[in-house]
Amino acid sequence: MVDETSIFIGASRKPDDSYQRAEELLLRYGNRHGLVTGATGTGKTVSLQILAEGFSNAGVPVFCADIKGDLSGISMMGEAKDFLVKRAEQVKLDPYQFQEFPVIFWDLFGEQGHPIRATISEMGPLLLSRLMNLTEAQEGVMNIAFRIADEEGLLLLDLKDLQALLANIAERADELSARYGNVTKPSVGAIQRTLLVLEQQGAANFFGEPALRIADIMRTTRDGRGAISVLAADKLMMNPRLYATFLLWLMSELFEELPEVGDLDQPKLVFFFDEAHLLFEDAPKVLIDRVEQVVRLIRSKGVGVYFVTQNPLDIPEKVLAQLGNRVQHALRAYTPREQQAVRTAAETFRPNPDFDCATAITQLATGEALVSMLEDKGVPAMVQRTLIRPPSSRLGPITPDERRKIIAESPVAGQYDQVVDRESAFEMLQKKTKEAQDAEAQAQQQNSGGSRWTIPGFDDVLGTGNRRSSNRQTVAEAAIKSVVRSVGSSVGRAIVRGILGSLAKGR
Ligand SMILES: Nc1ncnc2c1ncn2[C@@H]1O[C@H](COP(=O)(O)OP(=O)(O)OP(=O)(O)O)[C@@H](O)[C@H]1O
Ligand SMILES: [Mg+2]
Repeated sequence: MVDETSIFIGASRKPDDSYQRAEELLLRYGNRHGLVTGATGTGKTVSLQILAEGFSNAGVPVFCADIKGDLSGISMMGEAKDFLVKRAEQVKLDPYQFQEFPVIFWDLFGEQGHPIRATISEMGPLLLSRLMNLTEAQEGVMNIAFRIADEEGLLLLDLKDLQALLANIAERADELSARYGNVTKPSVGAIQRTLLVLEQQGAANFFGEPALRIADIMRTTRDGRGAISVLAADKLMMNPRLYATFLLWLMSELFEELPEVGDLDQPKLVFFFDEAHLLFEDAPKVLIDRVEQVVRLIRSKGVGVYFVTQNPLDIPEKVLAQLGNRVQHALRAYTPREQQAVRTAAETFRPNPDFDCATAITQLATGEALVSMLEDKGVPAMVQRTLIRPPSSRLGPITPDERRKIIAESPVAGQYDQVVDRESAFEMLQKKTKEAQDAEAQAQQQNSGGSRWTIPGFDDVLGTGNRRSSNRQTVAEAAIKSVVRSVGSSVGRAIVRGILGSLAKGR
C-alpha cells in the first residue's frame, strides 16, 4: 500500500476541499526529527500512532511514551468502525488493512510493563541534580560526590548507594572541602533529604540493576518489523521531573552508545517524546543547551526524535529549528498567548498561496493537520492542509488482560523482572566503616593498656601521647585505604561522562 521509502500520512486537500495528493514522510529523512502539535483532542496521539505504525512496518524500532494509556491499542488489530472506514476512503487509503504491531510494554514502576531501570552512575550528576531540583551549590556537591565515587571505585547503582555515599561525604566534609572545594554538611544534608522525597515518590524502583540494555529497544521481529516500545507513562506523569529526566537519560544513552552512521535509507530508531514541554519547563539553560546538542548530534547516529506537545512555543527555538517533519493540528486562539502560538506555528511553515496558515490552524478538524515533511534535498515541503489517515491498529486503550498477555509473551520476559542487588557503594562503605571501627577499637585497646608502645612500623618508641593519637588515625586511615584500593581496582578504569553527564560505556 505504501512504497518502501516513505510512510503514508494522509491526503492533502485542494482549496475546494477535494482530494489533492498523498502526503508522505520520506524514511531517508526520518532522522531529521519531527514535531506533532495541537490542542487537546485534536488528533496528536493518533498521528503519533500512524507514524509509529509506519516506522514499524518499515523495520524501524520505535520508542514512545503512552501518557493516557490510549496508545496501547497499537498492539491490537484495528476494527472497521464507520468513521475510520470513511476516513480511509477520503484519503484514498485502499485497501484499508488492519494490523497489530509488535509491542514491548515498559514501566518505570514495573506494573504495566517490564521494569525499566538505570543505575545512578549511568544517570550522572547533571540529570540527577535536575531530577532532584538541586540548587547550584548542591549540584556542585553532587558533582564532587560522583568524582569521589569514580576515584574511590565506589559503584553507584541504586538510591541507597547514593545515600551511603552522601552520609560518608558528610562525615568527611572538612577533609573533602580542603581537597575539592565547598562541601558543607548542610548542603549534603539537603541533598539527602531530597533523596528521601524521591524515594517516597517511587523512584527507588527505577534506580538499580538490571539496567535497560539499549539493544532491547532496538529489536526487530522475524518478519522484519520494528518493535514498538511503549512506556506506560500515566503514573509517571504525576512526577513530571522523573518522566523528563528518564527520557533525557534514554536519549543520552542512545547518543553515547550508538555508532556514527551518517545518513541512512531509514532511521535506526525513532523516539517519540510526548508532553515534550516537560523537558524544558524551568530547565536550567545548561540543560537546554545540552538537549539541543544531543538532538542535533543524534541524527548522525540514525535516531529520529519526534516531539509531541500542545504548543510549539513549548519548545526552545534552537530545538524547534531542528525538527524537520511537522504535523500541526488545530490550536485555539482565544487568549493573547494562544494567538501568539498560532502566529508562531504558522510562521514556521513554508507558506502555501492557497490558504492563510494562521487562519487554517484555528479551523482544522479533528484528525486534520497542517503537514510539512522534508522533501528532496531535505527541504521542507510547502505546507498542506491534510486529513490524517486512520490507524491500522486499535484506536484507544487495551484491557489489562490483553496487556498481561503481551507482557508474558514479550521477547524480554524474565530479563528485567527481578532486581539484582550486587555489591556496590552501600555495602562497600558499610564494610569500610566496620573496618575503620575495628582498627579504632584495636588501637584503643592497645592504648588502654597504658603502654607507651606504638604499633610497629608507624612510630618510634619515644612517641608522645599526642603522636599516639595520630597513629591511631593512621591505622584507621590505612584500613580505609586498603579497602579503597581493593574496590578501586575492581572498577579499574577512568570513567568518562557524556554530553548529559551520563556514563559513557565502552570507552
Ligand atoms: N487520523 C484520524 N483518523 C480517525 N480518527 C481520528 C484521527 N485523529 C483523531 N481522530 C479521532 O479523534 C480522537 C482524539 O484524537 P487524539 O486522541 O489523537 O487527540 P490528542 O490530540 O492526542 O488529544 P489529547 O491532547 O487529549 O491527548 C480520536 O480518539 C479519534 O476518534
Ligand atoms: Mg493524546
